[in-house]
Amino acid sequence: MSCQVEICPDGPALVRGADEVIDAAGRAHATTRPVVAVCLCGRSQRAPWCDGTHKVVTAAAPRPSVVEARDS
Ligand code: FES
Repeated sequence: MSCQVEICPDGPALVRGADEVIDAAGRAHATTRPVVAVCLCGRSQRAPWCDGTHKVVTAAAPRPSVVEARDS
């Protein structure tokens, strides 16, 4: 099985088909849905998941990187 990542302009990365997402610190976060939204703006209160805060932050906000998405 493969996973797919779609970057939304000024928004999250939509990750399809992954069992877990690895954050920039190396911590694994299990996915609970077929598609998960991973925060790329660095402002989510539910990191690594997008909580919609990107809609109110400026485009100049630093963007942490998701280092890896895994499927089994
Ligand atoms: S991308 Fe949505 S809260 Fe960061």
